[in-house]
Amino acid sequence: SPRVLSGIQPTAGSFHLGNYLGAVRQWVALQETHDAFYMVVDLHAITVPQDPAQLRVNTRLAAAQLLAAGLDPERCTLFVQSHVPEHAQLAWVMNCLTGFGEASRMTQFKDKSARQGADRASVGLFTYPVLQVADILLYQAHEVPVGEDQRQHIELTRDLADRFNGRFGPTFTVPKPHILKETAKIYDLQDPTVKMSKSASTPKGLINLLDDPKATAKKVKSAVTDTDTVIRYDVENKPGVSNLLTVHSTLTGTSLAELEERYAGKGYGALKTDLAEIMVEFVTPFKERTQQYLDDPETLDSILAKGAEKARAVAAETLALAYERVGFLPAK
Ligand code: TYM
Repeated sequence: SPRVLSGIQPTAGSFHLGNYLGAVRQWVALQETHDAFYMVVDLHAITVPQDPAQLRVNTRLAAAQLLAAGLDPERCTLFVQSHVPEHAQLAWVMNCLTGFGEASRMTQFKDKSARQGADRASVGLFTYPVLQVADILLYQAHEVPVGEDQRQHIELTRDLADRFNGRFGPTFTVPKPHILKETAKIYDLQDPTVKMSKSASTPKGLINLLDDPKATAKKVKSAVTDTDTVIRYDVENKPGVSNLLTVHSTLTGTSLAELEERYAGKGYGALKTDLAEIMVEFVTPFKERTQQYLDDPETLDSILAKGAEKARAVAAETLALAYERVGFLPAK
């Protein structure tokens, strides 16, 4: 079956609603139909300073949340990026194929380095997208399930795969992004024109899945909408309401048209009250399941160890081929 690969950073602590709806939810679905590889990208995490003890805690926490969200180690390969050294090895090769200008055009780097100040941004942050390219190509992935903000990195992956294949002969599968239109970008609840993210201007706009469910309900109820009263999906003119409808629709499996009909003639208060309840029903068991995995670190670590072993078998084969293609003398 076709292969998918994706990754999530452990830096955040709790995943937020955008991570879940934009990416992790698709990961869970795709493990049923695809040969699926999912990882916690700790190598990417250290492109910005991390506290070592906290990084270890957050890596387990990320894995626990992925399992709580529904990843099944019998159906997918779940692993930690640093457990598979081939990622760093292939990244070096791909670095040598990437233009300096090409890397400079990556918008996430530009944003992040601007936030940190150019002098403090690491070279690792600069080559971050190239490591992501290596992540994907190592597994010969056909599709990469991500949110909209990762599209440019998948484009770079396609360009570099083509470049390598053209220069050295067919080696890598050229992957496609798997981005679902409706949930590609979940917006901040306080500023529905910007994507939900950890660097939100106010914590009220960000739904962390592991927060107290009561606080989450409160954030939903105080979401920014507009001065109109009609509940209609219209991203352009009604971004706040549309974002709430998207979340409702995805979590309940109700179509947007059905929701518009259900809320016809009702106020924003009704939509928010319902959605607050839906969110609480979603996050409460999620939080409990995450805690169960954290309470049993041995089981968690053994899932990750098995995952790393399966991942390495695939990654090592691709790396050996790439090394041969570029002309490295095989070690005897
Ligand atoms: P990360 O950890 O920032 O985010 C994980 C996933 O969540 C998606 N996402 C969103 N989707 C919709 N709306 C939002 N507001 C939102 N915010 C985040 C992201 O698009 C992502 O899919 N560079 C990647 C990690 C990575 C990776 C890879 C991904 C490393 N190697 C290889 C795919 C393949 C990142 O930082 O994701």
